Amino acid sequence: MRVISIINLKGGVAKTTTTVNMACLLAEKGYKVLIVDNDKQGNASKAFGMYDPESGDNMAKVMLETVPLIDIVKRTKYENLDIAPANMDLLEANLRVIADVSRAQQTRIKRALEKESEISQVSAAEEYDFIIFDNAPDINMSIINALVVSDDVIVPLEIDQYSFDGLEILLEQIAAVKEDFNPKINFMGCLITKYREREDVQAQGAEVLENKCKTFKTRIRRTEQKPQESTFARIPLVEYSTRCGASKDYRSFVDEYLNAVGEKTEEK
Ligand SMILES: Nc1ncnc2c1ncn2[C@@H]1O[C@H](COP(=O)(O)OP(=O)(O)O)[C@@H](O)[C@H]1O
Ligand SMILES: [Mg+2]
Repeated sequence: MRVISIINLKGGVAKTTTTVNMACLLAEKGYKVLIVDNDKQGNASKAFGMYDPESGDNMAKVMLETVPLIDIVKRTKYENLDIAPANMDLLEANLRVIADVSRAQQTRIKRALEKESEISQVSAAEEYDFIIFDNAPDINMSIINALVVSDDVIVPLEIDQYSFDGLEILLEQIAAVKEDFNPKINFMGCLITKYREREDVQAQGAEVLENKCKTFKTRIRRTEQKPQESTFARIPLVEYSTRCGASKDYRSFVDEYLNAVGEKTEEK
């Protein structure tokens, strides 16, 4: 099992888009993949039409109780691709975890990941090849919990005047988690999203970023309409529009990622 955290303190930088499409492409290659929706907005859950504001089986339960993560997992309609959903319950859950000092606060997801289901006798850690966390634009207890179990951290960002905002704080947070809880955590790099290749200032900005910070070679091009349409259709972009620029780029990005972690890029 390999655990990936998709994270940035900013919203709208394509964290959820990256999570959903990366998960979809890994599942297509034959890996068993779990998306953990770690954002109270539940956008990753919505991307599969699996957002349920009423259901108690969600990530809030994992944070507050001692349930195995695998017990709240739902199947998507895609083969090999499951999701641990979230809804607004996660807002209160984060506040309650901070107030509750009777159990460790940072390792709740870790325990839930390793805990076997009484029904299936298997844990999420045993069941999946890849687990991808879609995080909120924040640093809260849910996100610290995700970093505690992560092997790889990927930071999607848009090239603009504010792209570097928060990056330093984020890297410090990763270093702190590495020191205290998780020596194996690895900052894989920034992923440039919504890239406008025809604009010189974008190319210059990308170069500045690459000199400053580890960055994936693949840049995800800005693609008009299709990403938004795909969210309304509740179909991941790489399925909805296989030939658009962003879809092609997500394919290259996943291959680049797999090469970097030493997995085969062919079908499993
Ligand atoms: N490559 C892209 N080109 C154009 N729009 C995109 C692209 N990637 C994502 N978007 C759009 O940007 C918006 C924010 O994306 P989202 O993944 O929800 O960001 P985050 O999870 O970081 O808040 C969405 O409307 C999404 O459809
Ligand atoms: Mg999001």
